[in-house]
Amino acid sequence: MNMDVDKLRQQFKKYGQEHVFRFWPQLNREQQEQFSRQLHSIDLALVARLAETFVLNPQQAQKRRQDIVTAEVIPIPESEEENQKAERARKTGEEYLCAGKVGVILVAGGQGTRLGYSGSKGKYPVTPVKGKSLFQLHAEKILALSRKHDTSLPWYIMSSAINDAETRAFFQENQYFGLAKKDLFFFQQQMIPAVDQNGKLFLAEKGKVFTNPNGHGGTLQALKQSGALEDMAKRGIEELFYFQVDNVLTRICDPVFLGYHVQQKAEMSSKVLAKRDPYEKLGVVGYRNGKLSVIEYSDLSKEEMEAKTPDGRLKFNAGSIAIHNINRTFIKNLTNGNLVMPYHRAHKKIPYIDEAGNRINPGEANGNKFEMFIFDALQYTTQSVVMEVARAEEFSPVKNAAGEDSAETARQALCNLYGNWLKKTGVPVKRKNGNVVGRLEISPLFAGDEKEFVAKCPPDLTFFDGLYLG
Ligand code: UTP
Repeated sequence: MNMDVDKLRQQFKKYGQEHVFRFWPQLNREQQEQFSRQLHSIDLALVARLAETFVLNPQQAQKRRQDIVTAEVIPIPESEEENQKAERARKTGEEYLCAGKVGVILVAGGQGTRLGYSGSKGKYPVTPVKGKSLFQLHAEKILALSRKHDTSLPWYIMSSAINDAETRAFFQENQYFGLAKKDLFFFQQQMIPAVDQNGKLFLAEKGKVFTNPNGHGGTLQALKQSGALEDMAKRGIEELFYFQVDNVLTRICDPVFLGYHVQQKAEMSSKVLAKRDPYEKLGVVGYRNGKLSVIEYSDLSKEEMEAKTPDGRLKFNAGSIAIHNINRTFIKNLTNGNLVMPYHRAHKKIPYIDEAGNRINPGEANGNKFEMFIFDALQYTTQSVVMEVARAEEFSPVKNAAGEDSAETARQALCNLYGNWLKKTGVPVKRKNGNVVGRLEISPLFAGDEKEFVAKCPPDLTFFDGLYLG
């Protein structure tokens, strides 16, 4: 053990990170063993490279002027012809679903810092009447879909070291929300250390280096390492619907989106929506230096942000909502060799143990976290579909504790969506400034979309505050 520690210490010294051993003598044997395991797992060369590129010598990372071009987008159907195309795509998508060729990937390994909720974000109670959690809402959509298409829809749920045990326990305590346990596959992404302004590691505890989940771009490697990819292959899964835990309006496995993706033999496809205004902080799908990508808000110049097309719409208007179809073979090929997904840096507040052993909660950003983003895989596609959807029907994420993109706006978005379904059947629903007044909830197990709702709606239905259909 001592020999081993000496070697480990030398390694850390070589990379200028020996300070993490500062409290070693104060740790008991078990803590030392645990710490040693963590230290062994840290890729020091990677940390050094990231610190050098993003923190110590950032001019290397400074962006060259980029050549940015829009991507072709399938519009929301308006004409008869567009409707017919969408219907053909739906048919293809439904055939895939019925044939059991589709799986679902949910990424839920994030830290949910902005929400400030103590548990895993997926446990957050979100639906307007019953207060169902995000996990339950998604689970019910998947259950309803598998019943509708009389198929199993395997669900691959990514967590991270910060919430893995909690996520599994939550599903177990809730009897997997009615889903078959055999169709659930929990897997973990990797963690990566953060560094301070001098490129040094932080101690989260006296015997633990501070690490954070390596971004949703870590999904691809994690799918391979966990055996999920192999599981998919065994089940005959060909396409994966990828989504994030916090968007309450996600249309899981939307058959039209899937159909277009399959028809075009696309490797990875994206859903987008029209930006609210030129300055909305939403990445846009487009080509950067010839490669398909999500171009971050901060990478567009003011002129590019404000540029318009002849019909008066924003030129760079394909706002990404982090919903993708991904072909399984594409993931397999990407992860077979040395997949290079770029890292991105975020300057954040990182609590740490200082030299004197005190826990410090900084008031200002003091460190650098590194993350990979799933959309960086788009650059490796040769075929890709970009499809526009309506914000009111498909995008309302729970990001913040209050205000924009919060649980409150997500609940309202659900009420508004269900309100539209009711209106379609002629049931009057009161609105103020476009928002439904009163709470209303329709379980995915009752109806998954407007068409299903209209077919099932009880004839004598009236709307009242707290109406729930389940
Ligand atoms: P966000 O980037 O919005 O992060 O993740 P977050 O953790 O939800 O919240 P903040 O930024 O700390 O406030 C979008 C989705 O990607 C997942 C999240 O769980 C969420 O579903 N994610 C993010 C991961 O699975 N792993 C990560 O490392 C980061």
